[in-house]
Order: sequence, then C-alpha cells, then structure tokens
Amino acid sequence: MKPNDLIKKYLDFFKEKKHSIISSASLIPEHDPTVLFTTAGMHPLVPYLVGQPHPGGKRLADVQKCIRTVDIDNVGDPSHLTFFQMLGNWSLGDYFKKEAIEWSYEFLTKNLNFNPDKISVTVFEGDNDAPKDKESAGIWRSLGVPEKRIYFLPKEDNWWGPAGKTGPCGPCTEMFIDTGLGPCSNECKPGCGCGKYFEVWNDVFLEYNKIAEGKFEKLSQKNVDTGMGVERTIAMLNKKKTVYETEIFLPIIESIKKVAKVDNYGEEENKALRVISDHLRASVFILGDEHKVPPSNLDQGYILRRFIRRSIRYAKQLGIDNNFCEDIAKKIIEVNKEQWPILEKNKEFIFEELNKEEEKFKKTLETGLNKFEKMVSGQELSGTGAFLLFQSYGFPIEMTVELAKEKGLDVDLKCFEEEFKKHQELSRVGAENRFKGGLADSGQETTKLHTATHLLNQALREVLKKPDIFQKGSNITQERLRFDFNFDRKLEKEELKKVEDWVNERIKEALPVKREELTLEEAKKAGAQGVFESKYGEKVFVYSIGNKSKEICGGPHITNTKELGHFKIKKEESSAAGIRRIKAVLE
Ligand code: ALA
Repeated sequence: MKPNDLIKKYLDFFKEKKHSIISSASLIPEHDPTVLFTTAGMHPLVPYLVGQPHPGGKRLADVQKCIRTVDIDNVGDPSHLTFFQMLGNWSLGDYFKKEAIEWSYEFLTKNLNFNPDKISVTVFEGDNDAPKDKESAGIWRSLGVPEKRIYFLPKEDNWWGPAGKTGPCGPCTEMFIDTGLGPCSNECKPGCGCGKYFEVWNDVFLEYNKIAEGKFEKLSQKNVDTGMGVERTIAMLNKKKTVYETEIFLPIIESIKKVAKVDNYGEEENKALRVISDHLRASVFILGDEHKVPPSNLDQGYILRRFIRRSIRYAKQLGIDNNFCEDIAKKIIEVNKEQWPILEKNKEFIFEELNKEEEKFKKTLETGLNKFEKMVSGQELSGTGAFLLFQSYGFPIEMTVELAKEKGLDVDLKCFEEEFKKHQELSRVGAENRFKGGLADSGQETTKLHTATHLLNQALREVLKKPDIFQKGSNITQERLRFDFNFDRKLEKEELKKVEDWVNERIKEALPVKREELTLEEAKKAGAQGVFESKYGEKVFVYSIGNKSKEICGGPHITNTKELGHFKIKKEESSAAGIRRIKAVLE
C-alpha cells in the first residue's frame, strides 16, 4: 500500500464514522512556550480536550506532522524517527473506549487486512492513581483477541501524557503487529525491543488531568486520543522489518548512496544512511513548515541546526565532501509533495537555507575534528574544550558528546555550561529540557495576552500602513506575549509608541470579542486573516474584536477588551531576515 493511500483510507474511514477531517497544524506549536515542536496529534488539540468547543464538532480526525527530538538517539533502529506523520482520531467528550477500540480493530483487520492472529494488544494494569483497565481488556476479548495476546502493563508502557508536567492524560491500549521475528526469550512481549512486536497504533483514554502537585483529577469530559504512525504502519503493511525499507525512505537512501563514495555498506555505513535520511527529512519539514524556521542558535532553529550538522558529519563517514543536502532535499520533497504541497511551495527557501548551513559548517568541521582529536588525549573532554568546539567550530554540544562517546569518553557538561553562561548565550541544556516541559495552560493571563496579540497584529498594520503584515510566529507565557511579523527594518521609537497607543485605545473602547464558526472560504470572504493552510470546506473559528480585527484562530479569547488593563511593549528586535519580533506585557 502507498503511504498516501493509507492516509486517505484512514480519513475516509473516520469520515464515515462522522468525524470532521481537520488540517495538520504547524510543526511549531502556537501559543505554547514550553515545547519546541508539535509532538503528537493531540498537542494542538489540548484546549479542546479540556472543554473548549472545536469548530469541527466532537469527532475529529487528521494526519499531523510531528517531531520528537527525544528519539534522536534511537534513530537508526527499526522504528524510531525524529519526524513522522501521525494519523489520529479524537472524541472530545463524545464516544469512549468501546467505539474507539472497535473502530481501531475494524480498520486494522477489515480495511488494512492485517491478520487478526498477528495482532497483540496491551492495556493498563492499574496502580494507585487509576484502576486496572478491565473495560478495555473486555472489549478486546469481545472482538476475539485471545487472552494470551492481551498484556497488562504498568504506567511506563500504558499511560499516555500529559505531554508536559500537567494536563490531560490517561490509560492507553496499544496495538502491535507480530513481525515474525523472535521471540527473543520467554519473557518477550510487546514493548520488548527485539523487533518481534511492532507498535502501530495507540488509543489513549484521556479522562484524567494531572495537576501541579502530581495528583490526578478526573477531567470534566472523557476524551479519546489515538495515534497511528504512517511510516510504521506502511512498513508492516508492506512486510518490511524497518521503516527505512519502505518507499518513504528507500528513494531518499538511494539518493544519498548516489553521492556517497563507499563501496561496502556495513553496520556503520547503514547507520549513517538512516541518520542522514531521517535528519534531512526532519530538516526539510521544519524549513518547509508554515513558519519557515531557519537554522540558528535558538530554540527550533538550534534543533534544525543540529539535524543538519549531524547529517553533514555522518555524510563525511560516507566520503561525501561536496554540498549534498539540496540533492537529498529534492528527493524528500518529491516523495512528500503530494501529501504536503507546502514543501514544494517553500522549496527555494529550503534549498537556500540548507546550502547556507552546509557552507558554514563545512568550513569549520574539518579543523574542528582535528582539534577534537587533539583534545581527547585524556579521560575526559573539558568543558572549555567543548565550548571552544561550539563557539569557534560550530559543533553543537550534543555532537561533541556523541563524538566523545564514540571514544568512550565523557564531556564535562557542567563546565561547558558555565562557559556557555559566561558568554551570555542561552543555555542549550535548558533548551533541550523544554521538551520535557508542560503544555501551555489556557489560564486567564495567557488568554488575555492572546487577545492582546490580535490587537497588536492590527495595530502594526495600521501604524506602519502596511496591510500585508502577518503573524510569523507567536509564543505566549503567563507573563508576556512574543509576536513575530514580516517587516524589513527596525521600528522607530515613535512608531512603537503609536502601536502601544492604538492597542490601549481599543482597550479603553471596551470592544466586544466575538466568535463565529465559518468555513474557511466564508472566513476568507469575510476578510478574516489567517496564516494556515486548510482543506476545502473545513470549519474554522473567526474572532472579531469590535470592527477592528478579524482573525481565523482557535482561541481562547476574553470577551471584552476592557479586561486587558494596560498594554506595554518591552522590546522590539530582529528575529530573522525580514522578520521583526515584539515582546509585550499587560500591566
Ligand atoms: N497521543 C498518543 C500518542 O502519541 C496517541 O501515542
């Protein structure tokens, strides 16, 4: 089966079951300062899982672009990728375990024709926070799954979420396909890494909310959140043992082999092929995302830089010394453009940024590696040394750690961090920790700042007399908003003052904030602004602030601008070429 046929089949199946098909959100989470990338289909849906109504109704399905950097070290094994496409269906307080499990089983066995004898499932065994999930096990039994292929497992395996420290979470039931390998021992069961059990789908029952003190409360509604990996499922459907042997990766791997200068592919060379194909694929999707993030030393840009630079280092192992990223990117776009036309649309940007980054890093990689070899004569690599490699040769710290590990050495990370801080850079370790952080809450402060962001957007257009100013990124914490927009010079002091005044006048006018539910076409006709690509006919919310601002947006928002207090701009700076960034607060 072709990947796009699987996607179509899945969405058609759930459309038939009365689900609205929604578009993939951007890889860069909006209004969520605590995570750098969208890691699951449920991530953009958190506000709706905790009670906010969704314009598509209570049943949703989509294919979502996801990035999981926590899996970076597992890339190369049969099933882990940094970028992947997740199919998902959701019930927002509508159907629950029975329908979710029955439909999963129906789709796997009837629509995808998986042999029922090859399917094993896991369910939550229960602990102090939540009881054993007898209900799910009972549903599997009623469908004919025999007792010996229903496994009860603890929280590490069968509990999903919250994506951060707090938020929706709950027990899950996972579906595995038997690859025919193994078993590796008598203990072998789903979750074992030997390759026998290949996970394809996860049904999560989000009925709990983890709160700050680590306690679990019942959510006001019982939700279903499911995730099926396209790459993994295609591997199983086409009887491959790894995702890299599928048609999603083979053409990419072939295009790397074409420029490689090695004759034999042993374990090391094959790992290099897998890492490069995974990392460049992730890079193409980040660069080609709605937000077009370029490589940098900050946040998403830094992760992108790591992906590209790690690819270049692995390419060196394959004897590749010319610029090669663009060639591989062309193949990646070709393989994916039907499902993700945005890649084709942004291809010039993708190529340009890849080439720039490759040029930059190639200049220093060779000398940096020589320097590294000289440094590692002792038992440990000093933090100062690692910092020098970072600062002067552009080695991401994670790459230095990896190089050192290959020699059986540790890096003095503490000292590296001290050096780092001394140089007034943002802590990279800090950035990485953010992946483990919590999802943004939709508290009162963030909601207010969200509405203020819409006003700021409009104020910029009015004051700078430039109606084509658009949001290029937004990030809101409890304390402040951060707003990126297209503009090609620094704003004058007087301009910033005028922008502030414009927003504060709208606050004084006590304008009502209204929400309408329209199709995307209706929203565009009504003059609403929006930054995302959507499918024809998809329902969206449009928020209007008096008759001053109209934007397509998921919300939430306050109901009247008088709740905002006083708006103050704290900083205006460059964010990337042609993009300015404003940080502002409400006082
Ligand atoms: N959110 C669930 C997962 O990512 C479906 O596995």
